[in-house]
Amino acid sequence: MYDWLNALPKAELHLHLEGSLEPELLFALAERNKIKLPWNDVEALRGAYAFNNLQEFLDLYYQGADVLRTEQDFYDLTWAYLLKCQAQNVIHTEPFFDPQTHTDRGIPFEVVLRGIRQALVDGEKQLGISHGLILSFLRHLSEEQAFETLEQAMPFRDAFIAVGLDSSELGHPPSKFQRVFAKARSEGLRCVAHAGEEGPPEYIWQALDLLKIERIDHGVRAIEDERLMQRIIDEQIPLTVCPLSNIKLRVFDDMRQHNILQMLERGVKVTVNSDDPAYFGGYVSENFAALHDSLGMTEAQARRLAQNSLEARLV
Ligand code: ADE
Ligand code: ZN
Repeated sequence: MYDWLNALPKAELHLHLEGSLEPELLFALAERNKIKLPWNDVEALRGAYAFNNLQEFLDLYYQGADVLRTEQDFYDLTWAYLLKCQAQNVIHTEPFFDPQTHTDRGIPFEVVLRGIRQALVDGEKQLGISHGLILSFLRHLSEEQAFETLEQAMPFRDAFIAVGLDSSELGHPPSKFQRVFAKARSEGLRCVAHAGEEGPPEYIWQALDLLKIERIDHGVRAIEDERLMQRIIDEQIPLTVCPLSNIKLRVFDDMRQHNILQMLERGVKVTVNSDDPAYFGGYVSENFAALHDSLGMTEAQARRLAQNSLEARLV
């Protein structure tokens, strides 16, 4: 079944490039950049990948991203992810990057963007994988800082297709970013946002009505609000669901409790994604395999999920 799932043509619509940084590459980049790490080896780092919630993961994710310093580092990170896409028949990807994770520690915006961009362009040419890059704002920072980031990005406007919203959800509702999303829209950028991962259905309503997003990242808590469910079914608003992430970050206690197939059967346009694969134990195919192993996903359901991912692309 794994080989069959792996061979299905699919798109990945929820992937943080910084979250695809495998421990082996993290150590290699630390050595190249002469950075001393607090872990003795790759196994010790992997051993630290045990999280009780989103924030515990984010603390380690930002620490890991500190080894990314040069344009070549961002190229190597992105290229390694694209090789995984090729191996798993991901024919189109719309990855996120978090510029503020890097600019806040003194790495120029253009260093980050140039490295990522060059790898994506090479991936299209050499591997045949199409892409649309999404610039994501960190929601634990202020809207003012998001505006500054958007301003820094504007000279490179053609390099990305959309803005997103990630990082610590609780206490940082979409309403905090209403103006900067309006500004992004006025520049012709599309909008997506993380909502309803740890946060309540109210955050999904806000993301739809205030940020005018076209696609919801995670959104699994929509199931708690029947009126919201009706809306996302009626309007066929895609959800980029990340099953292994949801277990690792304890959004659900166990994969057997995950609601993705229940949503699929109700007519929600759900898709399968890996979020931060280096930290959560698998890329897209491993996420599909987990749904087969724990939820009894059928071939027909797998086909619909893959088809949804191709239809939910922004570009
Ligand atoms: N940044 C990277 N992964 C994330 C996630 N799953 N939720 C919010 N912010 C993130
Ligand atoms: Zn995410």
